[in-house]
Amino acid sequence: MKKAHPLIFSLDRSRQQPLFRQLYEAVKEQITVGTLNEGDPLPATRTLAVELGISRSSVVNAYEQLLTEGYIEGVRGAGYRVQAVGELKHNARVPRAARRELHPAEALGENALFDARALDSALFPVHQWAKTISRLCRQEPNTMMFGEADRANQLLRQAIALHVYEWRGIACEPEQIVITAGSTEALEICINTLSRDGDIFNIEDPCYSPVRSCIEANHRRTHRLPVDDDGAQASALHPQSRLAIITPSHQFPLGGTMSVGRRMEFIYWAQKHNGWIIEDDYDSEFRYGGRPIPALAAFDKIGRTLYIGSFSKLFSSSLRISYLILPPQLIATFRHAQAQAKVSMLPQRVLAEFIFNGECYKYLRRVRKIYAQRRQHLLNCLRDQLGEFGSVRDHKAGTLLVFHLHRTISDVRVVEKARQQQLSVRALSGFCFDKSAWNGLVMGFVAWDEAVLSAGVATLKAIVQEVAGEAE
Ligand SMILES: Cc1ncc(COP(=O)(O)O)c(C=O)c1O
Repeated sequence: MKKAHPLIFSLDRSRQQPLFRQLYEAVKEQITVGTLNEGDPLPATRTLAVELGISRSSVVNAYEQLLTEGYIEGVRGAGYRVQAVGELKHNARVPRAARRELHPAEALGENALFDARALDSALFPVHQWAKTISRLCRQEPNTMMFGEADRANQLLRQAIALHVYEWRGIACEPEQIVITAGSTEALEICINTLSRDGDIFNIEDPCYSPVRSCIEANHRRTHRLPVDDDGAQASALHPQSRLAIITPSHQFPLGGTMSVGRRMEFIYWAQKHNGWIIEDDYDSEFRYGGRPIPALAAFDKIGRTLYIGSFSKLFSSSLRISYLILPPQLIATFRHAQAQAKVSMLPQRVLAEFIFNGECYKYLRRVRKIYAQRRQHLLNCLRDQLGEFGSVRDHKAGTLLVFHLHRTISDVRVVEKARQQQLSVRALSGFCFDKSAWNGLVMGFVAWDEAVLSAGVATLKAIVQEVAGEAE
């Protein structure tokens, strides 16, 4: 086997751009200029993380993004290697700015229409955020910047304990909370603390791809749990596994809510097998109708659930603040994670203040109303314009919608064509173990007003019509 190519570049910690993003850009550049060629293996995530002095989850996030965009591929048991990028490869001497223009994938950043990661920055309370930073920097310079890291972290943990009690029905103490730089880091901490190489994790099919990549990058195995109308199927749990990662409040990406009966099945299973349930509750603040459904961790009275929450959908994924809530019996086991906190003090302190002073909820209530309108509008457009090609289900929750295409219309083909029109829909089959199990389009909607969504659906309709024509 070819030896992994050394990656030569440096990360700049003084830049605002997250480290995973810098790594992703650097590898992408080496592929596009031809320093890395088709078939070249990339360094193992663990090795690269050590070499660069960054967390493994940052490397996993960067590789995941490259994987999604087709620059690299995962080879079972052999890490990652560079994929053919055809005409995207350019001469190293082409100036950087010109390369940018030539690069179609790059043109589709996170803010491209329908990208499920995008949020509407115009809605963010920039003024209050800036005022809070400036006030706290003056009043509490030590907590914000000069060494009293513990205080910022403690305050945020207290604030999160209030937040999850109010919004998710979880009663916990700040000592149970670990602040992490993103949900993947929280997951990686769970993986490394609760399991060993080769252990099996039950994960949903379909699922959030970084979850699967993170498990495999850490040399654990995955076992698929099919998802039906009641959520992930507990009856499919692997007999030799005692670990399961699920999204009960709002299944990613299908959108359904796990029934109470199914939740109880998971809890009984964990009790019987001394197992652990890892609940990923990434966007559950966004419910648009019906009664709020408490988190599974709130149902679990026997302490077998580890809860992962995130501020990525609530505020911004660039904030990189997520959290892990441990059952009391695991606090001591996870002490090391608390001690190695990677999130900087300043945003932790500001976020805590936003929760304590109610700004967070003001913002949440405001955007929820706007998202509800945008969501309803997209639902209507999809039904009116694309109804003959498939269907969309209304789960009244979350920050994305799935349009299920008829079997004969390939979601991958639609996505390819949509990218050429600057539309960032994702193929549902791409989130599945069994690519033929689901066929549809995963679409974000929160960042655009009604007029933009309408225009996007009109473009999409033409594309779907074309692909449907090819299938005939
Ligand atoms: C299923 C799922 N989990 C977690 C996250 C949040 O990840 P992070 O906290 O790393 O931004 C997302 C964001 O899209 C998600 O879809």
